[in-house]
Amino acid sequence: MTGVKIDGKLIAQSVKNRVKMAVDELKKQEINPCLATVLVGEDPASATYVRNKHKACEEVGIITKDHKLDANTTQTQLNEIVENLNNDNSVHGILVQLPLPSQLDEFTTTSRISPLKDVDGLTPHNVGLLAMKKAALVACTPSGVMEMFEYHNINLEGKNVVLINRSNLVGKPLYHLLLEKNATVITCHSKTKNLIELCQSADIIISAVGNRNKFILTKNMIKEGAIIIDVAISRFQEKLVGDADYEDIIQKASFATPVPGGVGPMTVAMLLKNTITAASLSSQIGR
Ligand code: GUN
Repeated sequence: MTGVKIDGKLIAQSVKNRVKMAVDELKKQEINPCLATVLVGEDPASATYVRNKHKACEEVGIITKDHKLDANTTQTQLNEIVENLNNDNSVHGILVQLPLPSQLDEFTTTSRISPLKDVDGLTPHNVGLLAMKKAALVACTPSGVMEMFEYHNINLEGKNVVLINRSNLVGKPLYHLLLEKNATVITCHSKTKNLIELCQSADIIISAVGNRNKFILTKNMIKEGAIIIDVAISRFQEKLVGDADYEDIIQKASFATPVPGGVGPMTVAMLLKNTITAASLSSQIGR
């Protein structure tokens, strides 16, 4: 059996089309959705991600503000920039690109973002709302994965899902979102003992390790008809790859995401969606 490719580019485009219509509606109400990004340092991968986010905003009519800061920026300087963006009524969404240089603390930084402008869903307020099933702004990659399930009418109820990631941006939000859909979720990480057996018994595997030297998901590690969502992206032997050997696993999986062209485009599309949600939230409180 050959599985179905979950085409992230295609699904992301359908999200973008909806976002574009919402942007047009907001503009009729004289609200011009605006995303501010903050990039600290020169990491080339981060710079590419931010550039792609700006390009996508442009495509749907979202205004962007670009803050590029020196790699030696201090925590006090970064805090001040976040504070200024919080107070700027023309800015609806704030994204501080991660990871940050080592002198800067992620929690100190992201927890200062106004929860109403927190398009990454990373503030303690929004993380708490997510755990209580009340979130309006959820981390972009996890909500993009959920959108993929929805697009393909994949019912998660009662499914055994193995998550291989426990980060604040991917694993933890996904855990809550999957649980809300009545899946049974096992969160695995570097200290998990029986990872291969857990994978072999999973209906769905969502993998975000990102180190091909340490981990590669192959068809002998999955059960027949499993659904494989590959969140990882890394450079390996001059190629962009995920955690899974796509050509191998697609022979046994019922659905799988390729890399590139899978989850990546969804992350960007959901950022656009979160920005218009943030713009609507601001307008509701009269800003
Ligand atoms: N770095 C990698 N992915 C992300 C993301 O979704 N948001 C932010 N802020 N940084 C990232």
